[in-house]
Amino acid sequence: MTQTVLVVGSGGREHALAWALSRDPGVTQVHIAPGNPGTATVGTNHPVDALDPDAVAELAVQLNAGLVIVGPEAPLVAGVSDAVRARGIPVFGPSAAAARLEGSKAFAKEIMSAAGVPTADGRLCLDMGEVVAALDEFGAPYVVKDDGLAAGKGVIVTDDRDAALRHAAGCRAVIIEEYLDGPEVSLFALSDGTTVLPFEPAQDFKRAGDGDAGPNTGGMGAYTPLPWAPPGLVADVVRTVIQPTVDELRRRGTPFVGLVYAGLALTRRGVRVVEFNARFGDPETQPLLTRLRTPLGEVLLAAATGNLAGQPPLDW
Ligand code: AMP
Ligand code: GLY
Repeated sequence: MTQTVLVVGSGGREHALAWALSRDPGVTQVHIAPGNPGTATVGTNHPVDALDPDAVAELAVQLNAGLVIVGPEAPLVAGVSDAVRARGIPVFGPSAAAARLEGSKAFAKEIMSAAGVPTADGRLCLDMGEVVAALDEFGAPYVVKDDGLAAGKGVIVTDDRDAALRHAAGCRAVIIEEYLDGPEVSLFALSDGTTVLPFEPAQDFKRAGDGDAGPNTGGMGAYTPLPWAPPGLVADVVRTVIQPTVDELRRRGTPFVGLVYAGLALTRRGVRVVEFNARFGDPETQPLLTRLRTPLGEVLLAAATGNLAGQPPLDW
């Protein structure tokens, strides 16, 4: 492969992606839109709005890009992948329709229910009467989620019923869930719409304060490998969570091409999905890519072009 690659986004994740691509001998040029001072050290930044599908597609055409990688969720939900794909350029990143797996928690629950994927029991509530009933049904600790993209800040987990009610009152549509105990694991898998190729697991920490305290964020830090993870975890999660989800999306005519991020809780009753994301996690991508030996551009291009079947496992 000799490719010019365009990465969309401006975070630490995009810096990690651009860095790993710059080390892939098959990647000739790395471009980032809009990028940040870190990405500028490993590629060329372009002042293009990541949320503007036509502007990103136009840049990809101008650069003669052989692969576009969409980093964050907001451009995916805005249809950036669809616009680039419409120009005939391979894209690593799901269509807006498939990105609803992250963009709408209610949609993710519907897919999991159809595919038999284990997750927290939950209620979608449209008014405060339903909220009160659901809070009392599940009891404390209360888990209250805004049904939409909120950069990790739309969820509260609290023993304080009044705080739970206040959070719910500020949401358009709200999901109340049963509380999942146990450690959290982030497991990523590449998907070409049919075949999946898992990463090694990582763990991130979402609370803003030291000692895992304070409000939720998108993620404060992450590490990998997880020496304490049960043996067979990755194969189990691929079989019971990731493959059935990818199969269900394909069955609905919205194949998922990109990265499936399963946020998992390892509860006493088994693995449960806490959330799906439709893109590389931030910050988990930073430690994971420092460990990946497989050339990143080559394997993301295989996913983007429907060629993951027959790929060897990722090399760490
Ligand atoms: P989400 O945006 O759904 O990933 O939620 C953000 C964070 O809130 C998760 O990473 C968990 O730490 C916590 N959380 C979400 N749902 C639950 C749940 N049902 N039980 C316990 N903690 C949860
Ligand atoms: N680290 C959590 C996320 O990327 O959403």
